[in-house]
Amino acid sequence: MKGIILAGGSGTRLQPMTRAVNKQLLHIYDKPMIYYPLSTLMLAGIREILIISSLEAQPSFHKLLGNGETFGLTISYAEQKQPNGIAEAFIIGEEFIGGEPCALILGDNVFHGHGLSELLTQAAQLTSGARIFTNWVSDPERYGVANFDKKGSVISLTEKPEEPLSNWAVVGIYFFDNKASSIAKTISPSARGELEILDVIQNYLNENTLKVEKLGRGYSWLDTGTPQSLLQAATFVQTLQQRQGLYVCCPEEIALSKGFIDITAFKQLAQNMGTSDYGKLLYQIASEFNIPSDG
Ligand code: DAU
Repeated sequence: MKGIILAGGSGTRLQPMTRAVNKQLLHIYDKPMIYYPLSTLMLAGIREILIISSLEAQPSFHKLLGNGETFGLTISYAEQKQPNGIAEAFIIGEEFIGGEPCALILGDNVFHGHGLSELLTQAAQLTSGARIFTNWVSDPERYGVANFDKKGSVISLTEKPEEPLSNWAVVGIYFFDNKASSIAKTISPSARGELEILDVIQNYLNENTLKVEKLGRGYSWLDTGTPQSLLQAATFVQTLQQRQGLYVCCPEEIALSKGFIDITAFKQLAQNMGTSDYGKLLYQIASEFNIPSDG
């Protein structure tokens, strides 16, 4: 399966932070925001990745991630001229997708939790239909919302409803079969002038080929669209990392653990980080690598 990170948008709610810098290049605690969705795709085992952003932001993403080979990935870039909506990713990315199934993750979404890798790896095996996830939130009106019947089957999906029918927000990672691009080309802009991802998903719901899963309490999902949520995400990452001494969404570590790169390449990445705390933790991971668990 291929993967797209949608990293454009105008970052209006984060002005003036986003005046000169693409939102996904802002940092969440100790790493650029885009490391988080990138890590999530890597956890799913996805190695061919397209990053969609404004043309202006592309050189910065390229400077940060290059062609992805240091992480054992293939990363390419494409332009979204205007924030015309999330579903436009499948039109812009059609050639990259090349008729295969594809995952899409929003550049400002952070996922963390026990068993996430297994869940995502399994989702990435999808060959027909679509699979999405929902998470219980206290402010559903900010999100796409799924409404379930008594048996737990989804009956409707609504983007930012004024009066939400449930607290189950649709999270920003979506898995589709090879039909997403052709569906995206048939939908019209919504009242807010965007090609809505929920309209693509609605097609799968109509066809009875949509799987909607509820993420339980063991999973954390954060979006970072406002100054408050950005700070909350940073505090969350800092708390977990300091308490456990383990990294949240470290692409270098995931590349090593998934076997995308070997230990020599990993040590080079650690060296590139110089004397930063990030570099120190990478060295620590390198020193623990291959030590038998009883040793
Ligand atoms: O975070 C999950 C929510 O994301 C879902 O529950 C909603 O159904 C979905 O529409 C989306 O809602 P948001 O209002 O949070 O989307 P936002 O406009 O903030 O964009 C999310 C990310 O995608 C952000 O990093 C910018 C990027 N983006 C967005 C649009 C509309 C683009 O790169 N291009 C775009 O055209």
